[in-house]
Amino acid sequence: MTISNSASENTFAVVNCSQLVTLAGPDRPRVRAEMRELAIVDNGALLIRDGKVAAVGARGEIEAQLPKDAQMIDAGGRVVTPGFVDAHTHLVFAGNRADEFEMRCSGITYQEIARGGGGILSTVRRTRAATEDELLGIAQKHAVWFLRGGTTTIEAKSGYGLNVDAEMKILRVVRQTWKTTPLRCVPTFLGAHEVPEEFRGRTEAYVNLVIEEMLPQVAAEKLAAFCDVFCEPHIFDQQAAGRILEAARLAGLGLRIHADQFSCSGGARLAAKLGARTADHLEHTDDASIAALASAGVQPVLLPGSVYSIGSRHYPPARAMIDAGLAVVLATDFNPGSSPVASMPVVLSLACTQMKMTPAEGLTASTINAACSLGLADETGSLEPGKSADFVIHEGSDYREIPYFLGTQRPMMVFARGERVA
Ligand code: NIG
Ligand code: FE
Repeated sequence: MTISNSASENTFAVVNCSQLVTLAGPDRPRVRAEMRELAIVDNGALLIRDGKVAAVGARGEIEAQLPKDAQMIDAGGRVVTPGFVDAHTHLVFAGNRADEFEMRCSGITYQEIARGGGGILSTVRRTRAATEDELLGIAQKHAVWFLRGGTTTIEAKSGYGLNVDAEMKILRVVRQTWKTTPLRCVPTFLGAHEVPEEFRGRTEAYVNLVIEEMLPQVAAEKLAAFCDVFCEPHIFDQQAAGRILEAARLAGLGLRIHADQFSCSGGARLAAKLGARTADHLEHTDDASIAALASAGVQPVLLPGSVYSIGSRHYPPARAMIDAGLAVVLATDFNPGSSPVASMPVVLSLACTQMKMTPAEGLTASTINAACSLGLADETGSLEPGKSADFVIHEGSDYREIPYFLGTQRPMMVFARGERVA
């Protein structure tokens, strides 16, 4: 038997792209007018070798570099973009909360349900009871949902375990999902997502457990790249969140924060003070906090799917953030409660219609800026030589159609590391 490894086998081209949206540019998050510069090659083509982008250019240039017999994919005059990078998801959870969805439809609010013992805690009960194998099966199903929407990289948080064993179980499932599916998963430890029932009224004791037992184990087993905290006055206030994040930084983790989701309560200012990588949500962030984020270089991760899904109209002030020079990121916040949304095209549509971002700003925020926020800018988020061949052939010939045709469009083909995955 001969194992052939000829150049034509691991090399192929994608040609006839009406717009090849490369997002090529400086090797850092894009701000202000840069967010509208997509570096589009009209009538472009891509050369892929060994799962990486080898060249980008006009069709003729790429064909000239293509080995004889190599495969050529005809994009049929469609638009091609980098795969979406979804920088805020809660990938791993058991069950769902369709019952709470129905309650919200009849007027009960997300926060009222949480105060009544539902919400995050109801998912914690089910996730604790599930085996690691069951959770892996669920996470793999979710991975298919992401890939079908054109997402090739996600950040994935724990946070439905809230005890040492269950938090580790969830993070191991994230690791296994990355090993067993084409979806690149960056793990985040969110042990401080809520105070579990057995610690009710003893928040400080739970914070100690997170710092003294969970974090050391997460770090020792290298189960997470980032640590996140749900910072709200009635959950983990600024002081508690600050203690956890300081400890996480000492343990070598990057920092992300659920901040100012329901009130302007210092979460964004804490992110700035600690030099966190991101501050996420920010629905209620004020101008002073935006200025603090800008001077500290913290990236805001905006989650319009969760605003929409809880039936709120209070979207984060994306325009003010872009004007202040913040490198905005868009993500789904995929989770069973506040955001049962795995689709980045839906999030892009909400960003455009509800937060008045332009389609170009939306694409930047959901690709290269998101990759930067995860420390993956040299690997994915744009189509430039040397990067992973993560790309999407969309229906339509103009990138503006991605947010415009809400709910009708599914990517035509999705590739991760040069392999077709959807
Ligand atoms: O980002 N705000 C806290 N966490 C999630 C909601 C999780 C849930 O409802 O299960 C969020 O919105
Ligand atoms: Fe979240």
